[in-house]
Amino acid sequence: MQEKQWAEAIAEKIKAKELKTAERNLHKVPYCAFDGVYEDLTGERIGWWTNGFWGGVMWQLYQATGEQIFRDSAEELEVKMDAALMNSRCMDHDSGFRWLPTAVANYKISGSEESFNRGRVAADNLAGRFNIVGRFIRAWNEDDHQTRAGWAIIDCMMNLPLLYWAGDETKDPRYYHIAKAHADTAMKAFVREDGSCNHIVCFDPENGDVLESLGGQGSHVGSSWTRGQSWALYGFTLSYMHTKEQRYLDTAKKVADYWVSCIPESGLIPVDFRQAEGCDFEDSTAAAIAACGLLELAKLVNGDDQEKYHNAAIQMLKAMDEKRADWDVERDGILSHCSAAFHDKNHDLYMMYADYYFIEAIWKLTGKELFIW
Ligand code: GLY
Repeated sequence: MQEKQWAEAIAEKIKAKELKTAERNLHKVPYCAFDGVYEDLTGERIGWWTNGFWGGVMWQLYQATGEQIFRDSAEELEVKMDAALMNSRCMDHDSGFRWLPTAVANYKISGSEESFNRGRVAADNLAGRFNIVGRFIRAWNEDDHQTRAGWAIIDCMMNLPLLYWAGDETKDPRYYHIAKAHADTAMKAFVREDGSCNHIVCFDPENGDVLESLGGQGSHVGSSWTRGQSWALYGFTLSYMHTKEQRYLDTAKKVADYWVSCIPESGLIPVDFRQAEGCDFEDSTAAAIAACGLLELAKLVNGDDQEKYHNAAIQMLKAMDEKRADWDVERDGILSHCSAAFHDKNHDLYMMYADYYFIEAIWKLTGKELFIW
């Protein structure tokens, strides 16, 4: 089957599944599915970093189908998330994940002033986390105030597009200055010579010195947590798309080359590229995010690299479709074998953001994507 036909066949399965899923979960804030039923993070867990992804799924489906149910659910979620926007304990480096697929997506479609306001408030808060001496955006909040004031994480590369969006909308260059300063620091302090990445880097928040790197959600210090790798791959690609700075493209290629060299024959991605031999922990979130990054990167490079990155994305997407996708419309969640972190007990979760990035990747192939980042 031709690639486009194959992607269109998957898109039909996604539409059928998400229509039923939306009917069952219209008023929920879904995160993980257990026994085919989404849990609901409405209420106390409204600040959780993944809560924007249901909105992303709904807006991508609305863009592709025009079905009102998807829009209604996305709009309801966006309003619920105001509780997080008004709570300093919820506001952290992940504002891009929360408000780009919700408020900013809505603004791009409808021009809504309220949605613009949410995106702008979130961007201002993200910019306010910048440590001017260390030139990084601080991760997480104050449950351990003293230690964490100097922590930054590779995931933050995927939140920078919120700053690029605010810069484009307001024509105020501060947002780009901050995003680029953070990306430059990440390039030096997180990306290793071989293209693998640290998850957490601890800086001295008083003078910006690098103190140490931590294994974070990966297997061990110096390991290669695949979701962190995928955030770097897609994140540097996006920084290049927004700024046209060659160094970000070079970094994205370095991370992508390392990623491609690590893909197992099965096309299924481990939780950590350096996990012990024989360990079978997998993470479909990392595979789906990296597929999106590779598909975008393939459009920005020349010669053999185009095919190399594009084909690697297709290999992973086919593996997910054939071996990890649940197409039963009566069950919530598409991709199995998702992992929150290497040292967690469960490595066979269904997680909302794996499905979001899988859908985004398929939409890139069918030409139906609402570009969110
Ligand atoms: N941003 C947190 C994670 O990727 O788990």
